Amino acid sequence: MCGIVGYVGGREIMPILIGGLRRLEYRGYDSAGVAVLTSDGVWMRKAEGKIAALESEINGEGVKGAVGIGHTRWATHGAPTRENAHPHVDHTGHFLLVHNGIIDNYLELRREVQEAGFPCTSDTDSEVLVQLIASVYEDSLERAVRGALARVEGTFGIAVVSDRDPEVAVVARRGSPLVIGLGEDETFFASDIAALVAHTRQVVYLADNEMAVIRAGSFITKTIQNQSVDKPVHEVDWDLGSIERDGYDHFMLKEIHEQPRSVADTMRGRLDATDATARLNGLNLTPADTREIKRVVFLACGTSWHAALVGECMFEALAGIPTEVEYASEFRYRRSPLPDPGTLFIALSQSGETADTLAALREARRRGSRAIGLVNVVGSTIARETDGGVYLHAGPEIGVASTKAFTSQLAALAMMALKFGRAREISEARGVDILRALNALPAQIEQTLKVDPLVRSIAERYSDRQNFLYLGRGYNFPVALEGALKLKEISYIHAEGYPAAEMKHGPIALIDAHMPVVFIATQDAIYDKILANIQEVRARKGRVIVIASEGDEAIGAHADHVIHIPRTLDFLTPILAVIPLQLLAYHIAVLRKCDVDQPRNLAKSVTVE
Ligand code: G6P
Repeated sequence: MCGIVGYVGGREIMPILIGGLRRLEYRGYDSAGVAVLTSDGVWMRKAEGKIAALESEINGEGVKGAVGIGHTRWATHGAPTRENAHPHVDHTGHFLLVHNGIIDNYLELRREVQEAGFPCTSDTDSEVLVQLIASVYEDSLERAVRGALARVEGTFGIAVVSDRDPEVAVVARRGSPLVIGLGEDETFFASDIAALVAHTRQVVYLADNEMAVIRAGSFITKTIQNQSVDKPVHEVDWDLGSIERDGYDHFMLKEIHEQPRSVADTMRGRLDATDATARLNGLNLTPADTREIKRVVFLACGTSWHAALVGECMFEALAGIPTEVEYASEFRYRRSPLPDPGTLFIALSQSGETADTLAALREARRRGSRAIGLVNVVGSTIARETDGGVYLHAGPEIGVASTKAFTSQLAALAMMALKFGRAREISEARGVDILRALNALPAQIEQTLKVDPLVRSIAERYSDRQNFLYLGRGYNFPVALEGALKLKEISYIHAEGYPAAEMKHGPIALIDAHMPVVFIATQDAIYDKILANIQEVRARKGRVIVIASEGDEAIGAHADHVIHIPRTLDFLTPILAVIPLQLLAYHIAVLRKCDVDQPRNLAKSVTVE
């Protein structure tokens, strides 16, 4: 989704702005722009489409200036055109703004600024804000921004510059992330640390309703209401290599292959052999607190929602806790039940910034419940607004289609279920078995990745199809949903995930000799049942691709293609079973020449409702 980058300092500015925008490309966008304060006034270029189009627009101009901002826009209000791209400039031509988020009362504000003689020319909500800032400016950019923000309803991460105040950039946030990067005699800012790590590891995260006045090598932070705030400086532990492709053709492929390590990182130092449990101190829950949990409710979107569905089965089976999974976007508008102290809410989010998940979490806390987070991005809003949680430590995930974050979420959920289970009903012996299985996972993921050439050959066979069906049962039903989502997201083939037995209540009508049907049919407690479902597809000539347990050779008689994965405990199978499905989606998308890392219309982190 939209990205902001900015710089105040003495270096050549354009490589910093364009380089930063490139690091934000993964978030998804459809137009881009940059602006610099030069000695001749404001310089600005914008383009529809990708950053390469913006670079052609810039055409190698050697722009000189100490203050600059850049933006990638993911269209909400108005089409992805040049006019709607950011930065937006006020009608006097002196004030420039980039904005992430949505200004809810923009129509009312637009009427007001138009009447004051500041006409808006784009369709965006964002332009209104720069016109408003210009209309209230007297002699300080900081004061003008503060004055304008007092009128704004909605969400924003903004950066504003003006040749009237040419030494500074003013940034502010409410609901959309903003981070400041510290350098020597220079200061960076961005909506995402990925845009900063090439230059600095020292960062300051703005909180909601805070703003900063940024100069070369210094900055001051305040609340939007003008109270001083001291902000701690954090050291980012990502290095540049972790956000580069490392020789892989795509970030998605790199991230699929990183899973042995990312899952190991999620579990590092957390498997407690002495007590046969998991050590998750960040949860801030004592064993007694854990025993008092009467119900767990997961809040999530997209792939994280699928991980939560696996978590639901794990929590019920291992810890005996009734568990529900809510789409965050639906939960937030549900009628409030009475406060329920026995309910633990768990927000699952790779980015920690998804607007619906954040809003649902706030709603849950407003109702008086305890809420924890399972988040990958350290310092993200969800991580900061929960009572405790588990960081995934999967490293930055750049590909829009989530892969390694999903398997790390499952590993983290398994550890939580083990911890809750041990505090309630699981025996020490069972705890030991579970720890053994968790410890074996990284090597088993490594082994699973060896199916890559086989999966590629299957992808070649079916990459021309229009529809796919993914079927699984029990723990592997969410894997079917996730396999279908991966394919849809990056290859634009219509794909549906279904509980295998439910197929006969509808999707079976779609099955003919052209329809590939992917079954996850590992030898678990309901293996025999799923074999019967495979027969139903075979009887209608569907093409059957099966993910099966290592050593299950007999299943070959019922399938066109079999992909074997190592055996593990039933509830950990999804961590292995999803890997061939990630690879299948990847290879099909590559064969169809799709933009794997930046699929059309999608955003990595959806920061609008
Ligand atoms: C977007 C991404 C998905 C992701 C979902 C939830 O739609 O494209 O890959 O699963 O948001 O994101 P979160 O960061 O909350 O896990």
